[in-house]
Amino acid sequence: MDIGVQFFPFLKPEFQSKVLSQQLRSKDAMNPTNRNLKQVLSTLISDSLSEMTGIADCNANVITASKPEFGDYQANGVMALAKQLKTNPRELAQQLVSILEAQNNPLIKQYEVAGPGFINIHLANNFLIDQAQPIQPEKAPLISKTDEPDSIVVDYSSPNLAKEMHVGHLRGTIIGDCLARVLESLGHNIIRQNHVGDWGTQFGMLITYMQEMEQHTDLPTQLSDLESFYRAAKQRFDEDKDFADLARKNVVKLQSGDPDFLTAWKLFIDESLSHCQALYDKLNITLSPSDLKAESFYKDDLEGIVKTLDAQSLLSVSEGARCVFLPQFTGKEGEPLPVIIQKTDGGYLYATTDLAAIKYRSFELKADRSLYVVDARQSLHFQQVFAVAREADLASEAISLEHIAYGVMMGKDGRPFKTRTGDLVKLVDLLDESISRAYDLVSDKNPQLDEDSRRIISEKIGIAAVKYADLSKNRTSDYIFDWSTMLSFEGNTAPYLMYAYARIKSILRKQENKNYQISSLDMPEERGLLVKILQLPEVIDAVARDCYPNQLCNYLYELSGSFMRFYESCPILKAEDEELRNSRLALAALAAKTLHQGLDLLGIETLEQM
Ligand code: ARG
Repeated sequence: MDIGVQFFPFLKPEFQSKVLSQQLRSKDAMNPTNRNLKQVLSTLISDSLSEMTGIADCNANVITASKPEFGDYQANGVMALAKQLKTNPRELAQQLVSILEAQNNPLIKQYEVAGPGFINIHLANNFLIDQAQPIQPEKAPLISKTDEPDSIVVDYSSPNLAKEMHVGHLRGTIIGDCLARVLESLGHNIIRQNHVGDWGTQFGMLITYMQEMEQHTDLPTQLSDLESFYRAAKQRFDEDKDFADLARKNVVKLQSGDPDFLTAWKLFIDESLSHCQALYDKLNITLSPSDLKAESFYKDDLEGIVKTLDAQSLLSVSEGARCVFLPQFTGKEGEPLPVIIQKTDGGYLYATTDLAAIKYRSFELKADRSLYVVDARQSLHFQQVFAVAREADLASEAISLEHIAYGVMMGKDGRPFKTRTGDLVKLVDLLDESISRAYDLVSDKNPQLDEDSRRIISEKIGIAAVKYADLSKNRTSDYIFDWSTMLSFEGNTAPYLMYAYARIKSILRKQENKNYQISSLDMPEERGLLVKILQLPEVIDAVARDCYPNQLCNYLYELSGSFMRFYESCPILKAEDEELRNSRLALAALAAKTLHQGLDLLGIETLEQM
């Protein structure tokens, strides 16, 4: 075979024999359990590039083709390499294509060099049909489990229990739950940690107010509206100095373990937790009471954390408080920024508890990754705490500590989402409003529907709309909460996707025989749909790695679009012959299954009929 070695002096002389070993190595990438097409292609082409150039670890930079004319995937890595080698990129690409062609890989129909040195990759139809084979049976999984499961802590929701959950808790709860589901689907061992705030100074104030109330009114009724209870307690605290002094004394008593105070505290915490759990259930969030690992869980470890830091001479006293100063953290004026570990009065801080939690997650839970799905405003906190933990060996070397930051939820006016009176909107009120708006919408669209069905459908749509609107945005930006877009049946919304799913299901219901197989990809819309379906694993892998659920949302939206195009151009039940009809039914069934799986990973329930 002519592989043009003469034009490329940098090619190793023993190169020709390597083509053979390359063919063998490609087998790994073709491991039938690896369904991540992008990764398979990336390994295949990167390896060929390395073999060709003698440069280790070349990156073929394979991406999904940006336009159908460019094939199914593109390899864009040749240009950078050509620059490094000071050679002509198009020629290098041509060279690579000759080598790839010589491999006769059954995955590939065709490679072509495009533009300044891109390589377009067209997958073979037979390969696509083969790939679909094992995932078609109803119960067959769409996502294969990893051979190397990690233990992954996902710290999410984690509200402060002094108050009821409000809109500020929505994003972390929803995004965290999606990530936990996605990672779990890959076979990782997920340890959910709801790091609720239950040990701060506010509890002194609340207990003191509870004691006052106990003498006047029925406490359980009072506590049933936690929000008003908190507000009333706060008012007492701000207005009455004696009350405030008592509250401060009571925190100390609570934190030193006084049994009476612990009992009162527990009463409050239990009430608050049952509010949270009701919301998790309403939102279809997979957190349960067993996932609680409250701040108070670490209370007895805090002294040890201080000792560890002290023993390593990391502590210094600044304005009476014990702090860690690390050189990489400085303020605007270059002044050193502290991580405060212990206050003058001996009290510990948020950061101290987080250090204890890192130690626990590293050495007790033995986690490989610990994800913190927390508001972006806490970025500095996490950078500092992670750095201190590394410095003081409170984190194992193995653990990857990742702050999964998200932006603020804004109202339509571009300001943080508040009620008319300026309070944060209670989460339960927001969800109820969404359900009631969905109810009006469903009644409007489907007036003949009976009351019960309307209720069930609007409950599902209302919750799904709120969740999807959040998940479909890039988490790092602030996002505008807008009822009309999230509840629309058009565009990248939950109702659109749920409707697409119900539509496919209604076609499939008309069909009794369920043992159909995909056999024809002659129409570009059939092929386009199958390629999309087969891309689920690479999207899941990307979400698992980078923690951006919006990638999954975009994928599902594109998948629905591919289905709609298929549906419009390829008659299913009216297809010319039985084999074709069965093939199209099989494609439709696989599209429905993929959509269902994707929505489930987002924590969104589907409806069979809408
Ligand atoms: N309770 C905290 C808050 O409401 C969030 C806790 C996040 N997790 C953590 N390990 N710090 O802001």
